[in-house]
Amino acid sequence: MRNLRIGVPSKGRLSELASELLGQAGLSFRRQDRSLFARVREMPVDVTFLRTDDIPILCAEGAIDMGITGSDLIAESRVDVQERLQLGVGKCRLAICVPEDSAIHAPEQLAGKRIATTFPNCTERYLKDRQTDVHLVRLSGSVEIMVALGVADAIVDLVETGSTLAANRLRIMDEIGQYQTVLVQNPNLRDAGMLALADRVVRRLEGVVIARDYSLLEYNVLRDKLADAEQITPGFDSPTVNALEDPNWCAVRVMVRRKDVIEAMERLETLGASAILETKINNCRL
Ligand code: PRP
Repeated sequence: MRNLRIGVPSKGRLSELASELLGQAGLSFRRQDRSLFARVREMPVDVTFLRTDDIPILCAEGAIDMGITGSDLIAESRVDVQERLQLGVGKCRLAICVPEDSAIHAPEQLAGKRIATTFPNCTERYLKDRQTDVHLVRLSGSVEIMVALGVADAIVDLVETGSTLAANRLRIMDEIGQYQTVLVQNPNLRDAGMLALADRVVRRLEGVVIARDYSLLEYNVLRDKLADAEQITPGFDSPTVNALEDPNWCAVRVMVRRKDVIEAMERLETLGASAILETKINNCRL
């Protein structure tokens, strides 16, 4: 049986994120110099280093069996790939942006205007749905300066923190979509061995992705407050509850979203819970 081929971004921020995630999931590899291939140590998997925006089409065409790329690039490429897992990183929005002082507040007001973008397909779909005709300026980068250059009246670009927009005195007029880094699979992958291997890769990455998002919270609480405590920390499935020597008390272990941990701890404390501990999770199988 041949090795499973996974396409990974060859450069840029996504390249580091992908290597880090794969390594944590027990799929580690070392890229030598600018080599295009690397072999994973722990599993029969080969990593191919590709341009992030080529990964959707190369996965759809079967050059790679799986790939890590942005769901924005999948939407733009309009190819048929199966999304297997959202990786919880690289979150961004594709937005239609106009100058801060622009009188344009609705998509219909864009009729006849010039819009610069590296996402012509997503932009066309958005405008078609609103029956608005514009002049599209198709570019491959630096879209944010096109209004200042006098090339466009509006732009469609990715927004992550919003600092690029602020620096160019632009504001969001409307949002076209929300995207993040995803793991995709060739929908024509049929070989049972390959499919099983692909499932193992998904499960491994899933363990890391969930672990990054959750903490393990442990606390002791009076049994008659348990129902209230479970309302605060319902858990991923349900909390694990153990008896304590004092029959009036019990010990709870539960997964809590990291962003909610502090507030949950405060509310549990108010409820009378004690010995409230947060533990970072590196990996998990649920
Ligand atoms: C993207 C995008 C914006 C910027 C938005 O560019 O095109 O320019 O990020 O991020 P912000 O809201 O945090 O400022 P990226 O840095 O990915 O490089 P690119 O120009 O090659 O697309």
